[in-house]
Amino acid sequence: MAAPSRLLIRGGRVVNDDLSQVADVLVEDGAVRAIGRDLLPPGAAPAGLRVLDAAGKLVLPGGIDTHTHMQFPFMGSRSVDDFHQGTKCLIHFINFCISQRSDSLLTWGNWLEMRSQTWQREEMKILAQDKGVNSFKMFMAYKDLYMVRDEELYAAFSQCKEIGAIAQVHAENGDLIAEGAKKMLALGITGPEGHELCRPEAVEAEATLRAITIASAVNCPLYIVHVMSKSAAKVIADARRDGQVVYGEPIAASLGTDGTHYWHREWHHAAHHVMGPPLRPDPSTPHFLMNLLANGDLTTTGTDHCTFNTCQKALGKDDFTKIPNGVNGVEDRMSVIWEKGVHSGKMDENRFVAVTSTNAAKVFNLYPRKGRIAVGSDADIVIWDPKATRTISAKTHHQAVNFNIFEGMVCHGVPLVTISRGKVVYEAGVFSVSAGDGKFIPRKPFAEYVYKRIKQRDQTCTPTPVEREPYKGEVVTRGSGH
Ligand code: URP
Ligand code: ZN
Ligand code: ZN
Ligand code: ZN
Repeated sequence: MAAPSRLLIRGGRVVNDDLSQVADVLVEDGAVRAIGRDLLPPGAAPAGLRVLDAAGKLVLPGGIDTHTHMQFPFMGSRSVDDFHQGTKCLIHFINFCISQRSDSLLTWGNWLEMRSQTWQREEMKILAQDKGVNSFKMFMAYKDLYMVRDEELYAAFSQCKEIGAIAQVHAENGDLIAEGAKKMLALGITGPEGHELCRPEAVEAEATLRAITIASAVNCPLYIVHVMSKSAAKVIADARRDGQVVYGEPIAASLGTDGTHYWHREWHHAAHHVMGPPLRPDPSTPHFLMNLLANGDLTTTGTDHCTFNTCQKALGKDDFTKIPNGVNGVEDRMSVIWEKGVHSGKMDENRFVAVTSTNAAKVFNLYPRKGRIAVGSDADIVIWDPKATRTISAKTHHQAVNFNIFEGMVCHGVPLVTISRGKVVYEAGVFSVSAGDGKFIPRKPFAEYVYKRIKQRDQTCTPTPVEREPYKGEVVTRGSGH
């Protein structure tokens, strides 16, 4: 990264989730120090101050990708984009780590296959209290590997609530997927279309409702990762209208493309779209999810970035169940959401900031240090040209993977300058990041945005027994007719 410096971002339209204003932003020592009109008199050029002209441009809080898998060991392979690629493409991301039934959680961090064993409950507590991990994802899919059953989910959600973490689920019915996969293979369907056919929308929607029901029984906040279907999104929207504390995360893939690609004639093209839950063949899905994101039924956006090259996908060339699951997204999330959300007229610039940054900062307890341009906040800022366009392509992207699911998409909304903790890390097509520049930000438990209502409900909504006079009449002897 370039040396620390003082920056003045001059004359841009500063956009937060609740307000836009034309202002200068002064950055010093990694934080925002002042916001206001004409912070620098015309003609003044103080030594050591770099001025970035943002007139006619937007000045946005840095994006927060809620869901990535960098250098992730999965399905017999390891995802090819690592933390360095991730740092190049993103200001912030919440990376998931994985552990299997026998692994210690402390080796990886915040993603686990969960059982209600005491040691895992203890390790979750250590992670939440001492290591800055405040979210745990449980799988309802991947039978015999990561899948947890309802009683284990109940135990995991109970522990999340106890330690002030947010419970996350991969919501798909693993038993039905296993049966569906057998059926497709028996029908001779071995290609990527089998991946969607064996796990239709209802498989995602059923698990989504089940997870919400269990979380509600525990009064634990719940976060549904990678919402892929209209059916699952409707379940989340209904639950929120019923008052549940539940958040839904569509991803760049589900907002930007669809599952018709599984029927593509070229095997590698179809295989590169394989992820779980799958993209849906209903082409109205991205519009539907974007509308729900725009109106508040869905809350954040991630990517689930988990990339495998064609030769890795080819592990499943004769059997779709062996194709490593995962697609790209980190580099293109902001542009795809701007194009399909803001340029299309579904949401405004403030809602864009909410769903790409602010809401994630609130849910994961980083707000207002992250997710807002305000005095005292970290200077994670993007100077954004809403009118410029770029065409997404694997030939020009900065990811290691050799395919891009958004190939050929023309997007309005182009980042001109990216500033991370007060340093310019990207400008005019040139990155200034080195391996190791990324920094882990510990997150505290009991995020108020999530837990205020939970705590209040525990105080006021816990059922109490009805006061009655004791029953004094006859009681039969057990087993006797009388
Ligand atoms: O297919 C996917 N989603 N790969 C990454 C692992 C996961 O389930 O999030
Ligand atoms: Zn998942
Ligand atoms: Zn295509
Ligand atoms: Zn994932």
